Amino acid sequence: MPEIVPVAWEAGTPLSAESRATLRRAADILLRGGLVAIPTETVYGLAAVATDAAAVARIFAAKGRPASNPLIVHVSGVDMLRPLVATWPEEAERVTAHHWPGPLTVVVPASDAVPDVVRAGGTTVALRSPEHPVTASLLAILGKPLAAPSANRSGLISPTTAAHVAASLGDAVDLILDGGTCDCGIESTVLDLSGAVPRVLRPGPLDRQTLEVSLHGSIEGPEATSSTVARSPGLLPRHYAPKAELELATDGRERVHTLLAADKRVGWITRGAVAATAAAASASKGRLHHLSLPDDPAGYARHLYASLHALDDLGVEAIVVDRPPGDEAWHAVQDRLTRASYRE
Ligand code: TXA
Ligand code: MG
Repeated sequence: MPEIVPVAWEAGTPLSAESRATLRRAADILLRGGLVAIPTETVYGLAAVATDAAAVARIFAAKGRPASNPLIVHVSGVDMLRPLVATWPEEAERVTAHHWPGPLTVVVPASDAVPDVVRAGGTTVALRSPEHPVTASLLAILGKPLAAPSANRSGLISPTTAAHVAASLGDAVDLILDGGTCDCGIESTVLDLSGAVPRVLRPGPLDRQTLEVSLHGSIEGPEATSSTVARSPGLLPRHYAPKAELELATDGRERVHTLLAADKRVGWITRGAVAATAAAASASKGRLHHLSLPDDPAGYARHLYASLHALDDLGVEAIVVDRPPGDEAWHAVQDRLTRASYRE
């Protein structure tokens, strides 16, 4: 198993000498071409120095990620990204001034300093400045940008704890920095600023309206068209999937009863204080695992992946998820659940 090192941190307080020493060790591993798993406010990332093409190639191998899917480059702020971009649009300046550091990724025209392997051969680069104090400090100590996709095998659920990373990637990662449970719990919002109009490629913790306010302009998408998939290959229909078959249900209770009657081991995810019926639980002879998530989009997102990981670990065959509300605030959660439930 890979080494997992806890890094103590407290919001608004400088890191301890011990934590800084751990980050210097992580920086040494990265400078020698190694891979380090990093905590961010969204999900854990699998990082390599972005300008080290050979190290970045190891990320693709570790994840089993198609070479056609580009990586997000993490920077400590706008100063670090200047050499990486061909142009830095006014819109990028405006949104990042509001939301960096934070769960926002912007796609802009790349310079030649970004290796081909990071861009997957494209002409743009995705950039994000993470807020998590451990990774923010690591970037400051390292003084170099980090390419980092989510730290999971390609196509599976993103990790929100260090244990999830270890379970998914094992020895393919040289060191895992344990900075606790990720706060957002789902991946960053990806905003494409390289085209004629700003467009959300992947919904996330920051919703479109919020970004439109800071951008002073309107933003398109996301739509599940073939052209958005081409622009952001990570947006393949089936993605973020648990091992069990996941289905979205309008009447979850009904579906759960049916599956239990067919002798299945079932996970059921509801919202708010809905108790699984005593009848369903007793009739299931321990084959039903019920989890209730907070009934607000941010709270629900925070716990979603950890719940799916937990149900997979329990060996359920089917996961029934009560369909969340359809309004914009739930968009990112809807997106992840729809992909997780996609069947060929
Ligand atoms: O929250 C996050 O964004 C996490 C943390 C670790 O920062 N990272 C993450 O990376 O989710 P990944 O690789 O799992 O997802 C990156 C998404 C993919 O859908 C990818 O196709 C898209 O961003 N992407 C990356 N570079 C792009 C580019 N140049 N143009 C369009 N889409 C891009
Ligand atoms: Mg991912």
